[in-house]
Formats: sequence, structure tokens, C-alpha cells
Amino acid sequence: MTLSANEVNTLKHAPAVEGVLPVILERWSPRAFADRDVSPADLKKVFEAARWAPSSYNEQPWRFILGVRGSTAYDKIGSALIPFNQAWALKAPVLILGVAKTRFSHNNSPNNYAIFDLGAASGFITLQAAALGLATHQMAGVDKDKAREILAIPELYEIGSVMALGYQGEPAALANEQLTSSEVEPRTRKSLSELVMSAWDQPAKLS
Ligand SMILES: Cc1cc2nc3c(=O)[nH]c(=O)nc-3n(C[C@H](O)[C@H](O)[C@H](O)COP(=O)(O)O)c2cc1C
Repeated sequence: MTLSANEVNTLKHAPAVEGVLPVILERWSPRAFADRDVSPADLKKVFEAARWAPSSYNEQPWRFILGVRGSTAYDKIGSALIPFNQAWALKAPVLILGVAKTRFSHNNSPNNYAIFDLGAASGFITLQAAALGLATHQMAGVDKDKAREILAIPELYEIGSVMALGYQGEPAALANEQLTSSEVEPRTRKSLSELVMSAWDQPAKLS
């Protein structure tokens, strides 16, 4: 029997760590989305969160194309997803394509941190969304050439990822067994000792 959305949230919850923001521990990336629209007011909040992300030279190179179900933008973004992602992401009420301006505005020199900054802004979106009870799932599985062409994205902007956003749905409603079973798998992470070093290959002492 497949787990319910509530049961799977419990399973996916990161182990509690004293002092880490609850929203960080609760956020995860479901593929099952409920048939429920997101209010314009909540959409505004998630983009406000992105606005306040840090960026190199405060360039704020991120730009987002917002596709709300029923709109041309939604259909175009959805059509550029790879088939694996289309199988679940087209149930989400919102698809957002993130792109990054690859030159600085103040001197037109290359901004090698543009995609890095888009990632930071996207991270802010995921956490703000989670705080509002919304689910997000980012996707690199996008035909970038197709997205650029059908959305008329200038060459100056590098294409990042697409984010599905909406309310979490029931795992059992996913299109196939592969999706349903991965929806209820526990989340895994590398250990801090692998990620944080005081010298190369020497884990930092963190407590
Ligand atoms: C940049 C990026 C690209 C991703 N691309 C895909 C994708 O194309 N399809 C997919 O199903 N999940 C995709 N994911 C989701 C990751 O697999 C997921 O975030 C990761 O397994 C960690 O799980 P969690 O977000 O639930 O903690 C992507 C995530 C990121 C950040």
C-alpha cells in the first residue's frame, strides 16, 4: 500500500538538528502535486523572497518566466521538459523557468557567478514556498534549446532550471510505479565530515 501525503512528509522530514530552521528540515521535492491553484498573493511572496537573495555585485542576474496553468507560458515551459519530467510536472499548477544574465550591467563584463546567483535565488524560493505550505521541485531535465527558442530568451541569458510549484499531492496519484516508489523513498545526504574540511580530505571539527 502506498503511503499518504502526510505519511510521506513524516518519512521525508530531515532528522531534527537543534537550531536549524524547521522549514529547511521540512522541505523536500515531491513529484505528486494536488489539483489546487496557488494564489497570486503567495506567488508574489515567493518571488519577493528571491529578490532578497544575495548576488555578486548585487547584480541580481536572475529572471523568472512564470507559467500558471492555462497560460501560454505554462504550456511552453511544459513542452520543453524532458518526457520523464512531463510525466509528473504537468500536474503542478505553476512552472517557473529560471534564467541568468551572463554579463554585469555596470560594465558588460562576463558574470561567471550568474548561475550560482540564480541557484541562490531559487533556494530562497524553495524555502519561502515551504514556509507557505507549498511544494517545489526543480528540474534540470529541460530541452534548453527548445526553451530558448519558444520563449524567445536572448543569448545573453543562460537557461537554468524549471521549478514545479504547487500543493503536494498523494503519491498514489502519480502516473506510474517508478514515480510512486521513488516518492516514498527516504531522503539521503552525505555526512558533514565529507562536506566540510579544515584541510583537504581532513574533516573539520564541528562540535
Ligand atoms: C538543479 C536541480 C535539478 C534537478 N533536476 C531534476 C529533474 O530533472 N527531475 C527530477 O525529477 N528531479 C530533479 N531534481 C530534484 C533532485 O533530484 C532533488 O532535489 C534531490 O534528490 C534531493 O531531494 P530533496 O529536494 O527532496 O531534498 C533537481 C534538483 C535540482 C536542485
